[in-house]
Amino acid sequence: MWQGSGLGAGTAVLLLLSVALLLPHLHLEGPEEEPPGSSMADTGTLPKLREDFRMQNKSVFILGASGETGQVLLREILKENLFSKVTLIGRRKIEFEEEAYKHVNQEVVDFEKLDEYSSAFQGHDVGFCCLGTTRSKAGADGFVRVDRDYVLKSAELAKAGGCKHFNLLSSKGADKASSFLYLQVKGEVEAKVEEFNFDRYTIFRPAVLLCNRKESRPAEWLARKFFSSLPTSWSKDHSVPITTVVRAMLNNLVMPSDKKMELLDNQAIHNLGKAEDVDKP
Ligand SMILES: NC(=O)c1ccc[n+]([C@@H]2O[C@H](COP(=O)([O-])OP(=O)(O)OC[C@H]3O[C@@H](n4cnc5c(N)ncnc54)[C@H](OP(=O)(O)O)[C@@H]3O)[C@@H](O)[C@H]2O)c1
Ligand SMILES: *[C@@H]1O[C@H](CO)[C@@H](O)[C@H](O)[C@H]1NC(C)=O
Repeated sequence: MWQGSGLGAGTAVLLLLSVALLLPHLHLEGPEEEPPGSSMADTGTLPKLREDFRMQNKSVFILGASGETGQVLLREILKENLFSKVTLIGRRKIEFEEEAYKHVNQEVVDFEKLDEYSSAFQGHDVGFCCLGTTRSKAGADGFVRVDRDYVLKSAELAKAGGCKHFNLLSSKGADKASSFLYLQVKGEVEAKVEEFNFDRYTIFRPAVLLCNRKESRPAEWLARKFFSSLPTSWSKDHSVPITTVVRAMLNNLVMPSDKKMELLDNQAIHNLGKAEDVDKP
């Protein structure tokens, strides 16, 4: 028990409490991708769908490509060579060393004057929005500015620029009637983006994002221990590896759909994200 490990019970409680409070702001290190499972997309048709998608020579933009989720999304998009043109839209230029990133276009914009940068949003078939900040990083006003205003303006410009399929990274619990600012803003943005009337609009609502960050901090280490001490079913309800979110995004992307709007909750993300190629000879 706690005492046995030389840790006072009070300290332990305090630690767990701070972990619980920190959870919404943390990127935890999660387990590696799961083994192939049996799910709706796990039919061996994914490679074919991916190839069909590639043949259409589509273009994509990513908002938030410097973030934890955006980075993984960009890497996987390039690895799978899904688009003939990839554009990052952000407030700063990202430096890439690897060869694979050589043809990535970057549009540096001022999000406070986004109307002046409408050309950056022109001519992309698909858009991914992984933008976001937190109240602790930016204050309440700053959070609303980024997570609501920047996202909505970007979606508006993307629609005007011809974007057909808009993908929004939202959050589990998003609800425009919530009394929590975070969840309220997420819900409000989801609903307002719908009004832009994209041909296809996909919302992802992951729970706490687990990332495979190399150097982690003590609080993250503790939280990770905390998560891994819990039953798998519980942690699956309350968290999801970023790699799984990205797999779900890209598997969904290549699967044709005639639904105007799709909403993937944390469970659906787990299911679709674990679908692997059944690519055996
Ligand atoms: N973390 C979680 O557990 C969790 C759970 C559910 C949903 N979500 C949501 O998922 C989304 C992505 O999360 P993440 O953890 O991948 O994000 P992240 O690592 O914090 O990255 C955020 C991205 O947004 C950009 N950004 C932040 N503030 C900005 C500003 N003031 N102006 C312009 N760009 C700004 C960052 O650009 P710079 O690199 O230039 O700062 C970065 O590209 C967020 O909307 C978040 O709310 C997160
Ligand atoms: C996509 O590009 C390839 C190679 O440049 C070309 O052969 C093909 O016809 C293009 N497909 C479409 C749908 O434009």
